[in-house]
Amino acid sequence: MKFLYCAVLVLAVLAASHAYSASWGKRSGSDYLLSRQVVVRHPIKNNYISVNVNYPGSGNSVYNITLVNVIDNFRNSSGATPSLWSGGPNYRFVQVNLRSQVSRGINSTVEIYGR
Ligand SMILES: *[C@@H]1O[C@H](CO)[C@@H](O)[C@H](O)[C@H]1NC(C)=O
Ligand SMILES: *[C@@H]1O[C@H](CO)[C@@H](O)[C@H](O)[C@H]1NC(C)=O
Ligand SMILES: *[C@@H]1O[C@H](CO)[C@@H](O)[C@H](O)[C@H]1NC(C)=O
Repeated sequence: MKFLYCAVLVLAVLAASHAYSASWGKRSGSDYLLSRQVVVRHPIKNNYISVNVNYPGSGNSVYNITLVNVIDNFRNSSGATPSLWSGGPNYRFVQVNLRSQVSRGINSTVEIYGR
């Protein structure tokens, strides 16, 4: 019984912490904020929205990326799921995909740090 209770508690904590925010890499205090974009999309009924965020627009940045940080601004479990599709830490470009939930919009901030 006690075990079951603990298992349920752990599951509840995991569910609550299901993050629509994510980060890859690690930054030091002297790294620059290379880019901060707020991606906002209105929901599409019965469909999801997929948005690619590229940094820099094309080619390579002069800086090496140290941290990619995606913040879900909904903060209520309606947020888009971020995935690192290419590049990122130790590269000079990055592509992050934001995939919304069905019939939900997107309001996520993508921050890129480098040095
Ligand atoms: C980026 O990393 C590469 C490989 O470690 C290094 O050669 C280069 O100098 C770095 N560039 C900057 C701007 O720090
Ligand atoms: C997106 O989230 C930010 C931060 O919470 C908020 O200031 C902004 O109004 C939101 N934008 C929309 C269109 O909901
Ligand atoms: C989460 O917040 C967004 C923006 O405020 C809202 O559109 C959405 O309906 C909310 N989702 C839930 C499950 O409350």
